[in-house]
Amino acid sequence: MPQITSAAAERPGKVKTLLRKFVVAFLLISGLAASAQTADQAWLKYVKRIPVFTPLAVHPLGNSLLEQSAVKELNRNLGSIAGRDASGPGFSARARMGMGGQTIIGTADEIRKALPDVPVPRDLGPDEYWIYIGPCSDHFNGCGEHNLVVIAGGDERGTLYGVFALLRFPATAEIGELHRENPWRSRPAMPIRWVDEWDNPDGSIERGYAGRSIFFEGGNVRVDLAPVTEYARLLASVGINGCNVNNVNAAPQLLDANHLKQLARIADAMRPWGVHLALSVDIASPQKIGSLKTYDPLDPAVRTWWKTKVNEIYALIPDFAGFTVKADSEGQPGPSSYGRTPADAANLLANALAPHGGVVLYRAFVYNHHLDWRDPKADRARAAYDIFHPLDGKFAANVIIQIKEGPIDFQAHEPVSPLFAGLRQTNQAMEVQITQEYTGQQRHLVYLAPMWKQVLDFDMRVDGQSTPVKEIIAGTSFHRPRGGMVGVANVGRDAWLGSPLALANLYAFGRLAWNPDLTPEQIADEWIWQTIKFRDPVVVSTVEKMLMQSWPAYESYTGPLGMQTLTDITGSHYGPNIESSENNGWGQWHRADKDGVGMDRTVATGTGFAGQYPPQVAMIYESAATTPDELLLFFHHVPYTYRLHSGKTVIQHIYESHYEGAAQAAQFVRDWATLEGSIDQPLYEQVRDRLRYQAGHAIVWRDAIVQYFFKLSGIPDEQGRAGHYPGRLEAEDARLTGYKIIDVTPWEDASGGKAVSCDDPQIPNRKGATKPICTAEWKWTGEEGMYNIAVQYFDLHPGTAKFFLAQNGRIELGPLGQMWTADAELPSPQPHGDNSIRHLIRNVWLTAGQTMGIEAEPDRNDRAVLDYIEVVPAKRDPYLVPDLPCSEGQQVQDPVSHQETYEEIAGPELAGWAGETNVGTPIEGMLVELFHPGDKTPITTTHTNEEGGFRFTGLAPGHYRIKASGVVEYGVDEIVRLDPAAKAQLCLVVE
Ligand code: GCU
Repeated sequence: MPQITSAAAERPGKVKTLLRKFVVAFLLISGLAASAQTADQAWLKYVKRIPVFTPLAVHPLGNSLLEQSAVKELNRNLGSIAGRDASGPGFSARARMGMGGQTIIGTADEIRKALPDVPVPRDLGPDEYWIYIGPCSDHFNGCGEHNLVVIAGGDERGTLYGVFALLRFPATAEIGELHRENPWRSRPAMPIRWVDEWDNPDGSIERGYAGRSIFFEGGNVRVDLAPVTEYARLLASVGINGCNVNNVNAAPQLLDANHLKQLARIADAMRPWGVHLALSVDIASPQKIGSLKTYDPLDPAVRTWWKTKVNEIYALIPDFAGFTVKADSEGQPGPSSYGRTPADAANLLANALAPHGGVVLYRAFVYNHHLDWRDPKADRARAAYDIFHPLDGKFAANVIIQIKEGPIDFQAHEPVSPLFAGLRQTNQAMEVQITQEYTGQQRHLVYLAPMWKQVLDFDMRVDGQSTPVKEIIAGTSFHRPRGGMVGVANVGRDAWLGSPLALANLYAFGRLAWNPDLTPEQIADEWIWQTIKFRDPVVVSTVEKMLMQSWPAYESYTGPLGMQTLTDITGSHYGPNIESSENNGWGQWHRADKDGVGMDRTVATGTGFAGQYPPQVAMIYESAATTPDELLLFFHHVPYTYRLHSGKTVIQHIYESHYEGAAQAAQFVRDWATLEGSIDQPLYEQVRDRLRYQAGHAIVWRDAIVQYFFKLSGIPDEQGRAGHYPGRLEAEDARLTGYKIIDVTPWEDASGGKAVSCDDPQIPNRKGATKPICTAEWKWTGEEGMYNIAVQYFDLHPGTAKFFLAQNGRIELGPLGQMWTADAELPSPQPHGDNSIRHLIRNVWLTAGQTMGIEAEPDRNDRAVLDYIEVVPAKRDPYLVPDLPCSEGQQVQDPVSHQETYEEIAGPELAGWAGETNVGTPIEGMLVELFHPGDKTPITTTHTNEEGGFRFTGLAPGHYRIKASGVVEYGVDEIVRLDPAAKAQLCLVVE
């Protein structure tokens, strides 16, 4: 039975090299990373960043709530220079001189009255702003040579947006550059720019991946709404003007008198930032909470009920924005129960809201989820068009049809919904998902702006004319007054979206809704400047590249060629589960069989969906030859041997895209590693850990899809990868104690479909060990050398299993990662691709014939389920996640000299190297002291040389304490043992 030994304990004499690595991580506590949830955590951090031409003296002409917010925001930014609010004291006379002049804020009317000679345009529209920079002395006495900056809004909200635009300006322009246009004018492309939050009164969030609701808890609105105000500030900064705060699967009780009063507090909290409250409503509310016997939209009592209810809402919330409706969809009640149409239901609500200026966003996400999968003509993708197109022109003026960007449901890649071209006399809004339900749930990096941009730019060719979707939803194509974009954000208490880089999606949503002509790259750059590092071209280009590659990468390792995400459709929507979409009524079919794959949606032989597009587009999709590769399988069922435009067969593309996608995910780890030291350290580490996880999970995806299609098609991978995994040792082939072999469902989520589960743990026969464990042991038959070992296991909840790597029956507890806990929070309590996770142990010395094993302590439901281990030479990039210079990873600047340090030590002696993690920069001049343990005076000392190296020779065997310090404010203090026959090596990796 294995023995546990301590980190620095004796090693068997046979082990020739003792590689020790201490990772010393010092978290720099950022002043902003406090407990409060603030907009600064997203992109509104003003760190001494200021529009060069803005005078310090800020004068609002009006006193409205929004103008007050505008002034406050400007002063907050100007004040970042002095470390305090700019309106107060704290600026030197010099600063005041340098930023002299006047900044005037007001609506166009106010400006005209106060400064008649400033040329404010007469036609500034709602939410529009106009910024003018001129010589101050032209308008004011005593301004000298300074600037006059005027920020005028078409209305008060426009004023606020003008201030945010000015504050954003340094992130969008070259250093010292004045705005190219002066005056500078901007108006939103579309009036509806809303976010939807799918929050439930109990504080949970449907498809939310960032903790609990900022709005609700325990059935009520939260007492502390400070985060809501901060959120509204964040939204306003990118021009978002509406926020629907509750789940589209709406809880009817939110419309009762008590909850409406509570909801009014949310409206109050958002009002200073011009963000109006909207609510999702259950169309059956008159029956569910109103004690009517019916909710028939044409029933007069129902009409009266809604009118009264809406009046009650406006009495409490005078600027209430309106209702969002999900009806006749996924089990929600709807007008079809009474043989009525969506237009009947939408108009019922619209009539009640119209006198108050409110709107109805009626969702086109209406479909039958009990479709007959055996019917080759059945097609969920058709539903929205089939239902709503015939109703075009029948909706009231204040109804907007809210259409998901694709015909299915936020998949990794879908064609554009044809309904955008099918409603010419109806207002439309496009719904996109900011929360990454089908795109990695914020655990994976997926920047969605390129996807949205593709949809916005897609030309529908209505009547053979240019008709991009962005112009349709903006209302310009068909002259509709009310249109826009709605983003399902689902922010939570965990830093808004949980993942720092996911916030780029929220930012991009607002920017595109304001101006869909911006490019995703431009938006990414702006966001990176403001959030990660200001004006650092290396940082911006590195992160921009990562963001831009992230959606294609995700699509490649999940569901390429238009197959949809290939995820668990009936479960979490996270990990792979290819067949979950088949043989059920949900209609997300890809129809893979042994001969081919894809859904025939042609008019000629399929469901006819392709014919819902205007003729010029329909023609393209009707034929496989003209359908773009990336959507081929959405429109066509083809044999696996079908050749794509790329020249590859479909099956080869499936194999290759998954290997390429996973390799790209690993590349993100490397790309990000190059930023260490040049960006905020806690941010660096948080993102690094997420990217490492993603790189591992991309392999789970890769292997699931590849082995599934390999088995189904029986066609080998031209590159020989499918079914071959170098270095992989399956758990089911190991010598097992306590572990039992199990089948994993779906089978493709485990290597070979099998894993081992610790169902019968045993008390180990070793000193001090009391907990029951299971073991899986393999014999190492490869060459002696340094290896990285990846352990693939399933992290189940509830419970936190512990894992240990044992060698020859011994466990080393140390810094290599030989002991770890399965404490990730992942979906599904059963072993599944959702929770399959990869743990990497680096730099393990293996000798031929030795055993290596995994010991595991299960905990409650977490049965320490193990899939396989993969042993790959450390010199090679094993999982494409190299980041430690000591393992000669790619970041090491001078791998040769480091390697020499490793290989050429004759024992007993102690040598090593100090360097910065990832960057691999050696640290020269660190004081390295060697002690007998317990002594205060060192035996000897040395300093690291210019390569970061040090060496103590002529040492007797025994225990030593080694301490490295100086140069950097952190160091290492550890005890090591030198065997007579061993050489020891210490790699000080300083983070
Ligand atoms: C998806 C999602 C649901 C959501 C629905 C909707 O199907 O999984 O949770 O309710 O979209 O948009 O209504």
